[in-house]
Amino acid sequence: MDSTKTYNDKVVRQFTAATILWGVVGMLVGLYIAAQLAWPALNFDIPYLTFSRLRPLHTSAVIFAFGGSALMGTAFYVVQRTCQVRLISDKLAAFTFWGWQLVIVLVAITYPLGITQSKEYAEPEWFIDIIITVVWVVFAIVFFGTLAKRRVKHIYVANWFYGAFIITIAVLHIVNNIAIPVSWTKSYIVYSGAVDAMVQWWYGHNAVGFFLTAGFLAMMYYFVPKQAERPIYSYRLSVVHFWALIAIYMWAGPHHLMYTALPDWAQSLGMVFSLILLAPSWGGMLNGILTLSGAWHKLRTDPVLKFMIVSLSFYGMSTFEGPMMSIKTVNSLSHYTDWTIGHVHSGALGWVGFITMGSLYCLIPRLYGRKQMYSQKLVETHFWVATIGVVIYIAAMWMAGVMQGLMWRATNDDGTLTYTFIESLKQTYPFYYARFFGGLLYLSGMLMMAWNTWMTWRTSREPAPALIPTAVHA
Ligand code: HEM
Ligand code: HEM
Repeated sequence: MDSTKTYNDKVVRQFTAATILWGVVGMLVGLYIAAQLAWPALNFDIPYLTFSRLRPLHTSAVIFAFGGSALMGTAFYVVQRTCQVRLISDKLAAFTFWGWQLVIVLVAITYPLGITQSKEYAEPEWFIDIIITVVWVVFAIVFFGTLAKRRVKHIYVANWFYGAFIITIAVLHIVNNIAIPVSWTKSYIVYSGAVDAMVQWWYGHNAVGFFLTAGFLAMMYYFVPKQAERPIYSYRLSVVHFWALIAIYMWAGPHHLMYTALPDWAQSLGMVFSLILLAPSWGGMLNGILTLSGAWHKLRTDPVLKFMIVSLSFYGMSTFEGPMMSIKTVNSLSHYTDWTIGHVHSGALGWVGFITMGSLYCLIPRLYGRKQMYSQKLVETHFWVATIGVVIYIAAMWMAGVMQGLMWRATNDDGTLTYTFIESLKQTYPFYYARFFGGLLYLSGMLMMAWNTWMTWRTSREPAPALIPTAVHA
């Protein structure tokens, strides 16, 4: 068949499979380091298996390999459908897929060997950074090139969010990684001291804002209306949401550096912008949830919608908690404690994880020419197992965090500390066991998804290539 008349779904299928594979691997590493915190002997005194080397492997695997593959795959799917054209180049799309997988493999080899820049979420050494830049530029060319070739006048809002995510991550990656290499495996970042910290957390926070939020909001704007079979609640709100979110996120980075050598005014600026960020975040959340207005009954029977709506609830929760944690006095209690880890995973497991799973459960049957996944019952079980898993995980971390913060600041009448650090650690163990159990549930849900996807693929006939509609809807 003439390929210009069909969509390129091959690359979407590849990214979908990669998402599930890296999801399982990344969460397995997460579970392993969670086990190490509960039972420290589990590193077996092997340097490659120490917590310090595997922790960044976990964060990179779940954010960039699992999240990244989901974002790239859905971006390619959504931009074709909403623009009613095929991707501009199959070769460049394939290059994006294989290039990104190469980056992931290089990361998985270098971190356990201890080869790292030691910048959180930007650990890859300089030669991997250059490959990332090339792959990202190609990704941008395919996405924006396809957008430019569109047959529909209007640019659907999901593409605005994908576009902002692609441009911003490019800028962040380049600025934060300017380094002077001294060998193949070692480089020095050009910034130093407080400036280095500021650049790092401008990057780190916007990685949250644009990788873990804007890109996934794009998924929300396409897949929630699709699954609910209803238009987005308010298109006007989505435009306000977009501009407000991208304008405000940029300034909130200093909330990661409270009570540090960073100038006080910058810390206060970060706090104020973080508080303002609550408004666009909740605007977006409500826009997603209210899309179900008049179709709430579907939630009773559709587990895919359940994933989506629960993800939006977690989005609302974590974007309420974040601004609260940016208030300096609250941060003096929460910082360094497991409360931060609780906040991270309510966003990561609840929001990012659930919207990805919901979107993929909506997408996979379409990619294989089916109405539903192989087992809809298993999707339902996945939903409940994962929900219980997240709740146990984050509740354990919140309790542990507040307890740690209070124990560390308790003083006796003579001004000495009431508790030693070790005492607080001992009290934390029960919560670490609980977190391990919550993580185990969450990972088992991911395994169910992997099996269900495998079976959906195995039991499907070769799907006919998806045709681009001939009549254009403006
Ligand atoms: C089975 C699921 C998971 C388990 C058991 C797990 C476990 C962990 C553990 C034990 C840590 C280290 C905490 C510490 O240093 O005290 C961690 C950190 C982290 N995880 Fe996960 N994780 C899981 C899934 C995810 C997912 C899906 C994401 C993102 C999409 C994620 C993102 C992160 C991030 C960003 C950090 C670093 C937090 C910080 O530095 O404050 N995790 N995880
Ligand atoms: C309005 C939105 C948000 C605000 C204002 C916010 C604010 C904060 C604050 C104050 C911290 C603690 C900084 C510290 O004490 O070290 C933090 C940590 C973090 N947040 Fe958020 N948050 C928001 C939403 C989210 C969402 C939706 C996610 C995930 C999808 C997320 C992921 C993270 C991560 C990964 C960290 C840990 C960074 C690190 O230290 O490694 N945040 N956030």
